[in-house]
Amino acid sequence: MTHSQTPSTTVRSPATAAHDRGTDAGGFLPAVPLLALDRQYAVLRDAIRGALDRVCDSGKFVLGPDVHDLEAELAQSLSVPHVISCASGSDALLLALMAFDIKPGDEVILPSYTFFATASAVTRLGAVPIFADIDPITYLIDPADVKKKISKRTKAIVPVHLFGRTADMDAILPIAKTAGLPVVEDAAQSILSTWHGRCSGAIGDVGCFSFYPTKNLGGVGDGGFLTTTRDDIAARLKLLRVHGMEPRYYHQVVGINSRLDSLQAAVLRVKLPHLDAWTTARQVNAARYQQLFAEYDLAGHVAVPGDESRGRHVWNQFVIRAPGGQRDALRKHLAACGVGTEIYYPVPLHMQQCFEYLGWRKGDLPQTELAAEETLALPIFPELTEEEQQTVVGRVAEFFHAPHIGQKTDDIRRTHQPEAVVEEPHFVRRMNAVGRADDVRS
Ligand SMILES: Cc1ncc(COP(=O)(O)O)c(C=O)c1O
Repeated sequence: MTHSQTPSTTVRSPATAAHDRGTDAGGFLPAVPLLALDRQYAVLRDAIRGALDRVCDSGKFVLGPDVHDLEAELAQSLSVPHVISCASGSDALLLALMAFDIKPGDEVILPSYTFFATASAVTRLGAVPIFADIDPITYLIDPADVKKKISKRTKAIVPVHLFGRTADMDAILPIAKTAGLPVVEDAAQSILSTWHGRCSGAIGDVGCFSFYPTKNLGGVGDGGFLTTTRDDIAARLKLLRVHGMEPRYYHQVVGINSRLDSLQAAVLRVKLPHLDAWTTARQVNAARYQQLFAEYDLAGHVAVPGDESRGRHVWNQFVIRAPGGQRDALRKHLAACGVGTEIYYPVPLHMQQCFEYLGWRKGDLPQTELAAEETLALPIFPELTEEEQQTVVGRVAEFFHAPHIGQKTDDIRRTHQPEAVVEEPHFVRRMNAVGRADDVRS
């Protein structure tokens, strides 16, 4: 948030005033990190350390009381009857497909423009990923292409709610119903996103979530969970995550070992009550970006993501598009200016080396391939300040020599106030927080 300036009677040069604000003569901050988890931790430090101590004192480290309570609290937050935690979002996808008995040779339809785990869950079971193209505006799976790719061997559809926006479930659910296929939602990036009032993960047959630290609700390591409205699938998932064992040392099916640590659960329980406010802060930041981009004559250079009218977009990522071969040069410029960015994802899954055996070729998924060449994620984390966003957009405009055509940024504050109070961290001026773009994935 912008800090108020102390009025001064001293006459100072613009350069001195800029230095006092931490900006250069052009009004830009020296660095804006892609993600700054330290800002969140600084606010919650004592509570998190207390929770970790409590678990260590209890000696209950795996699937302990904190895991049980976290599952109940998540079920309430997402309004879904069943939450089953596990060791990662990748495992959540694997468990979901196992619950639907996906076997070697079965086909599963999913986007190619997603994180690797969406497809590797399929291939680890010996099944075949059938990639569908995406909508060029939302980057989400194209339902028309899904429909085209259904065959006799298709056993499931996996829409990915990429970047925090729910896939077009109005179109996908009827397609799945007609074909008699389960819908496994990859909701790793979309916790608290909604679709006509229902939380992602509670729309299809099962939802798969990740607690990877860069997610909107991130742990201090790996973790994940599944959601379902179906009692039969919930029971199967609970069995599958503990080697198919029930009762102890009696194995009904071959499952996997994928349990959430109590230490992760305890930390996540400290964070969960803040998630709604953090999500609102992301929405505020997205709206502010939209406003700031509109202040520059950037049409024709950059496409800025829009809102979702059918539900809540939770903005795990704010991904712009720079067509015409400009993306990589723009990214280089931003890096030179200290602005952290990331490419999600540079190589679509159908073009990955490990999937060569599947026989996909360049040109098979044109929208996916173009998005991989043109998209760029900007910082969007909840604690991002207005000044930081001004620097990001100003630096993008600088790259394109786009003039400021001027609108009021204040409007955005009036129309997009967070519903809940977002604690303002005391360290927002500490700009030496590193971008950490290198180890940030989504
Ligand atoms: C879309 C998507 N699916 C699956 C995953 C896998 O989650 P995890 O890293 O927790 O295994 C991630 C995140 O990493 C993701 O972004």
